[in-house]
Amino acid sequence: MLLCGRKHRNLYPFIPEIMKKKLFLLTTACVCMLTVVAQRADYRIIPLPKEVQLDSTQVFTLRSGMHVSYDANDMEVTRVAQFLQQWVAEQTGQELVLASSDDKAPVRLVLTPPANSKKKGKKGQQPAEPSPQQQEAYTIVVADGGVLLQAQKPVGLFRAAQTLRKSLPFISKSSNANPPSAVELPYVRISDQPRFAYRGVLLDCGRHFFSVDFIKQYLDVMALHGCNQFHWHLTEDQGWRFEVKAMPQLALKGSIRKQTVIGPGNSGIYDGQPYGGYYTQDECRELVRYAAERYINIVPEIDLPGHMQSALHVYPELGCTGGPYPVRTYWGVSREVLCGGNPETLGFLSTVLGELCDVFPSKFIHIGGDECPKDRWRECPKCQAKIQELGLKDDGKHSAENQLQTYINHEVETFLKSRGRDLIGWDEILAGGLTEGAVVMSWRGTKGGVEAAKQHHRVIMSPNVYSYIDHPQLKDLGKQPRTTDSYIVSASKIYSFEPVLPDELTPEEQTNILGVQTNLWTEHVAFPEHAFYQLLPRLGAMSEVQWCLPEQKDFEDFSRRLPRLKKLYDLLGVPYCRQLE
Ligand code: ACM
Ligand code: ZN
Repeated sequence: MLLCGRKHRNLYPFIPEIMKKKLFLLTTACVCMLTVVAQRADYRIIPLPKEVQLDSTQVFTLRSGMHVSYDANDMEVTRVAQFLQQWVAEQTGQELVLASSDDKAPVRLVLTPPANSKKKGKKGQQPAEPSPQQQEAYTIVVADGGVLLQAQKPVGLFRAAQTLRKSLPFISKSSNANPPSAVELPYVRISDQPRFAYRGVLLDCGRHFFSVDFIKQYLDVMALHGCNQFHWHLTEDQGWRFEVKAMPQLALKGSIRKQTVIGPGNSGIYDGQPYGGYYTQDECRELVRYAAERYINIVPEIDLPGHMQSALHVYPELGCTGGPYPVRTYWGVSREVLCGGNPETLGFLSTVLGELCDVFPSKFIHIGGDECPKDRWRECPKCQAKIQELGLKDDGKHSAENQLQTYINHEVETFLKSRGRDLIGWDEILAGGLTEGAVVMSWRGTKGGVEAAKQHHRVIMSPNVYSYIDHPQLKDLGKQPRTTDSYIVSASKIYSFEPVLPDELTPEEQTNILGVQTNLWTEHVAFPEHAFYQLLPRLGAMSEVQWCLPEQKDFEDFSRRLPRLKKLYDLLGVPYCRQLE
C-alpha cells in the first residue's frame, strides 16, 4: 500500500545504454535474418556448477512440441515443470508440451530418493536426514535420450531447471525466423549443490518503500542467482512498514514521514514532500507464498530496541523521554530508542512479534539489535531501576546498559522459542553477551562473526566492505548514481570474499558459518531501477561466494561468463551496471 511518494528523479547516467541496446538488437536481427542456424547451449553459467562433464562432440536437439514428463501428483514438481516450459519459451521460442505421464518424453523431471534411504539404519535408527545443501543437490544429464533432470527434492529440480535455463541460448524474437532456430544441447553430466545453506539478500524497505510487484521481481532475480533467503528489513526510524492489526496506528501513522532529506549525507535540504507506505498482512502473506514457490524463505526483521523512532512517534510513552518523536526525516543513528526499563516495551514487542510470526513461517526471525545508543538509558530512571532490579553491573567486558539489551534479547528469544523460532541479530548483540540460541549476522567486518562462531553460535557473514551494495561499485563516482560513498564495493571485491576464514577458525568452528548475505540499504536508493542497478551484476559475484567452492572461483573466468547472464537481465527487463570492476 503506497501512501505517498516522490517523483522519479533523473539520477541515472546509465540510461543512454538503453539506446545502445536497441542498436544491438537491430544489428543482431539483421544478421539472424540472413542465417538461421541451430544455436548451442553453454553450461558455463553463474553461479558455476560443481561438476560439468561435457562431450561437445554430440548434441541433443530441443524443439517445439517435445514433451516434458513429471509427476503430476506432486504440486511442487508440476510447478517446476511449468517454470521450465515458460523459461524455454521466453528464451528460445521453443514451445515444449507438458505431458506428465509420458515415460519416453525427451525432457524428464525425476525425483529420486536419497541413496541412503534404502539402507537400513542401525536398529531403531532413521537414516540421517540430508543436509540443507544436499536437499538442494541435482544432476542434469543430456544424452541421446534427451534431457534428464534429477534431484531428491523439488527444490533440487528447481535449481536444475534454473541451470538449464541459464545454459540456453538466446533466440531473439526479432530474428524473423519461423520456426525459431532449434536449440542444440551438447551432451553433458552436471552434478551440483550449493556450498552454503544460507544464501541471503537484504532489502531495506524502511528508508524507502518498494511495491509488492517490485519485490516479486527482486525475488525472481534472487532465485535466478540461486539465493534462498530474502531478509526483509521492515522497520526503521524513517518508516514502519508492517501492519500490526492489534495496533493499526503503528503502520498508518508510523509509516509516514513529513519529508526527506535530499542527496547523499545529511545536506540539511529537504524535499518538502510527505513520504510513506506499508505492507498489509495480506500482502506479506502473498509475498511469502510467491517466495516459497521460488524456494526462497522470507526472514522478516523488526529492528529493536534501536531504529524504532517511527514506532515511538505513535507510542511516545515507550521512549525514555516521552517524546514527542517525529518519524525521522534524515539518515544516521538516532539516540531515541525503546525504553529498556518500561514493562510495556516487552508487551509491545510480543504483540508485534506475535503477529509477525503469524504472517511469516520463517524459522529465523531477525530482531536487529544494531546501533542502539545507550545515552538515554544511562539517564533514564526506569532503565536504571531495571538495571538495579536485574543486578546488572559493568564487568569490564559488558556495560550494564549493554546487558540490559541482552536481557531484552533474552525475553524476545524466549517468546520466539515459544513460537518455534530462532533469533538472528546484528553483531552488536555480542556486546552484552549472547543469548543461548542467537544467530549472529556479522556486518562490522568479520570479527563479530568469528567471535560468535568460537562461542559455538551460528553465524551469517555479511561484512560491510564485501556485502554492502548500497555503496558504489565503480571507482569513478561520476559514472553511477550517487550513494553512500565512503568506500567502493566492486564486484571483484565481493568476489574475493572467503566467508569461513580458515586462518581464524578451526574446521569445527567453520561449520558454524551458515552462509553469506549481501545487503541493499536504501537511504539513497528510492526507485526500482536504481535498486536493480545497485544489485546487478554484483549479485552475480556474490552468488559465486555463496554457491561455489573456493577452488572453483576465478574472477577472470566469472567476467567471461557474465555477458550471457546480462542477456537474461535484458530479457527480464531489469537494469544493471554495464561495467565490471
Ligand atoms: C547495519 O548496517 N546497521 C546493520
Ligand atoms: Zn528508559
